[in-house]
Amino acid sequence: MSDNAVYPVSSEWANNAIIDAATYDEKYRRSIEDPEGFWREEAQRLDWIKPFTQVKGTSFDQQDFGIRWFWDGTLNLSANCLDRHLETHGNTPAIIWEPDDPTSRNRILTYNDLHEQVCRFANVLKANGVTKGERVTIYLPMIPEAAVAMLACARIGAAHSIVFAGFSPEALGGRIDDCASTIVITADEGLRGGKRIPLKANVDEALEHHARDVSRVIVVQHTGADIPMDESRDVWWHEAIAAGSHICEPEEINAEDPLFILYTSGSTGKPKGVLHTTGGYGVWCSMTHEYTFDYRPHADGSNQIYWCAADIGWVTGHSYVVYGPLANGGTSLMFEGVPNYPDFSRFWHIIDKYQVEIFYAAPTALRALMREGDDYVTRTSRKSLKVLGSVGEPINPEAWEWYYNVVGEKRCPIVDTWWQTETGGHMITPLPGATALKPGSASRPMFGVQPALVDPEKGTLLEGATEGALVILDSWPGQMRSIFGDHERFFQTYFSTYPGMYFTGDGCRRDEDGYYWITGRIDDVINVSGHRMGTAEVESALVLHPKVAEAAVVGMPHDVKGQGIYAYVTTVAGTDDSDELRRELVQWVRKEIGPIATPDVVQFAPGLPKTRSGKIMRRILRKIAENDVGNLGDTSTLADPGVVDDLLANRPHA
Ligand code: WTA
Repeated sequence: MSDNAVYPVSSEWANNAIIDAATYDEKYRRSIEDPEGFWREEAQRLDWIKPFTQVKGTSFDQQDFGIRWFWDGTLNLSANCLDRHLETHGNTPAIIWEPDDPTSRNRILTYNDLHEQVCRFANVLKANGVTKGERVTIYLPMIPEAAVAMLACARIGAAHSIVFAGFSPEALGGRIDDCASTIVITADEGLRGGKRIPLKANVDEALEHHARDVSRVIVVQHTGADIPMDESRDVWWHEAIAAGSHICEPEEINAEDPLFILYTSGSTGKPKGVLHTTGGYGVWCSMTHEYTFDYRPHADGSNQIYWCAADIGWVTGHSYVVYGPLANGGTSLMFEGVPNYPDFSRFWHIIDKYQVEIFYAAPTALRALMREGDDYVTRTSRKSLKVLGSVGEPINPEAWEWYYNVVGEKRCPIVDTWWQTETGGHMITPLPGATALKPGSASRPMFGVQPALVDPEKGTLLEGATEGALVILDSWPGQMRSIFGDHERFFQTYFSTYPGMYFTGDGCRRDEDGYYWITGRIDDVINVSGHRMGTAEVESALVLHPKVAEAAVVGMPHDVKGQGIYAYVTTVAGTDDSDELRRELVQWVRKEIGPIATPDVVQFAPGLPKTRSGKIMRRILRKIAENDVGNLGDTSTLADPGVVDDLLANRPHA
C-alpha cells in the first residue's frame, strides 16, 4: 500500500455502469452550467401530482436568503415509495428484515405488504388526530414498523422526528418538547446483541419530566416484555392497526412542505432540528441512491439486494434505508442487530444469506471487525457483493484497504460517500463506473454540487491543490431548508461564517487531480463512531452534576471509534477527585445523553487554560488529549500558564 495508491475503474464497470467517466463529466458540467434544465429532467424520476413549473429559487446571500426547489409542484413521497411500484413490483420484496438473533424468524415485506401496512398506520395516525403539518416523534428500534411509521407520516403530510433508540429519556424528552409533538411511537423493547433496551420505559420517563402535551403513545409489541400501559394514553400498534381500514389515499403535498425533522449536534447549544422538505429531498435521495450504488434491476427484472447497515435514527437510515431505495423500487435490507453478535462474522453471514450485492456501512464498524482478524470474513463467501459503501466519518487508508482486499476481494469498488444530515444525501463520492479510487478520498462531487475550499481565517477562495475549510457554493435540491423553529439560527450557523456560501464545518484537502479528502470537523463537533456529538452538549451534561463546577470536552484519536470523548472536569471546592467520582461522571453523561456520549477519558483539572478574558483555549486541551504535548503552541496569553503544567502532570493516560 502506498500513500498515493489509485485503483482505476475496471473495464467491466466502465462498460456496464449507469454512469461512466465520460457521462459523469458531461452530466456534471451540465448540472452546473444549466441547473434549471438538469433538475427539470432529473426531477422526473418522481411522480408529481401537480407538475412543477418552477425549478430553482435559491440564494445564500443575507439580503435575499432563501432555498426552494420545485415549489409550485405537489407530490406524495409515500406514493412515490409505494403505490407507483405496485402494478409491476407488488410482489417484490421492499424490506427484508433480519432480526438481532439469527435463529429468530426474519420478515420479508413485499411492496404490497408495505403499502397495506403504511395505509393502515396512516389511518391510525389520522384516527388519533394527527393532521398535515404536525410532528410525530418516532423512537423505535430497527424493525419494519419504523419504516411503516415514517411512510405513514409522509402519506398524510405529518413530519416525522425520529429519535435514535440509543438516546436517553432526557434527550428524548428534550427533542419531543422542541418540536411540540403530541404523539410518540415506540416499542416495548429493542434488542441489540441479545441485550434488551427498555424503550417504552424510557418514553414513560421522558414524559414524566418533559413533553406533557403528549396525549398518545403507540407501542409496537416487539419482544413481548411485560410493560405497564397507561390506559388513557398508551395503545398497542397491532390493535390500532387491525381496527382501521387498509385504504388511505395519499395527501397532496407541496414540494416545500416538511417531510421530517432530525436532530443533530452542532458546535454550540442544544441539538438542532434539521428540517427537510419533500420534493427536493425526494429527488436527491432517489438520484444519489441510483448513481452512487449503480442501483437498478437485473436484466431479468429482479431486484439487486441492497443493504445499508445504518440505523434509521440517523440521516443515513432516512435517506438510504428508506426513502432512496424505496423511491427506486429497490429491495432494502434492514438489520436489527450489531456486527459482533453472535460473532464477528455476522455481517458477512447476512450478506451470504440474502445474496447482498450492495453493502453500505460506517468505518467504525469495519475497524472493529478488522481488529478481530480476517478469518471471520474469509470463512464466508461474499461472492454476491458488487459495491461497498462507506459513510459517516473519514475512512483511514488501512481500513479502506482491508474493506477492499479482504471483504470485497479486490472485486468491488468502494464508494466513500461524504455528506451530512444537513445535505440530505451524498455530496462528494466516487461513482463505481466513473471514478478511479484513492483510498481515503471521497473523491469527486455529485451532480449539482459545487464544493470549494476557503482560507479558514480570511474566508477567501483557494484554488488548486490545497487545504482549507470545505464550503458549497450553490444550493442543491436535497439541502436542508431550516432549523425547526429557528430560521435565524439556520442562516447564522451555515451561511454567516463565509458570506454567500454554505459552510460544512469540515476541513478538507484537494489534490492535484481535484479529488477531495475530508480531514474531519474543524468546529466543536466530534465524530464518535460516525455519530455527531457536540462538545457543548457533553459539557452541559457534566455541569448538571452537583460536584462539577466546570467542564471542557474535546475529541481525542481513537483506534476504533475514530474519535473518542475527552472531558476535563473542575470539581467544586472540597470534592475528592476520586476514581469513583470519575466512574460516576461517566455514568452520569450516559444517563443524560445516552451511551454514544460516554466519555473515554475524564481528567480532573483544578484549572482550565483560559485567556485573560476568560475564554477556554481548546487548542491546548485538544493537543493534550491527542498526546501531542511537544507542541502546545503559544501559552503566553493564558491568564495562568501554570495550569498547563498541572494538566500535563495529571493526564490519566500519560
Ligand atoms: C463526517 C452523516 C469523511 C463529516 C452522513 C460530516 C465524513 C459529518 C464522511 C456529518 C466521509 C460523513 N468522509 N467524513 N465519507 N461522511 N462524514 O450529519 O465530518 O451524522 O460533517 O451525517 O460526518 O455527520 P452526519
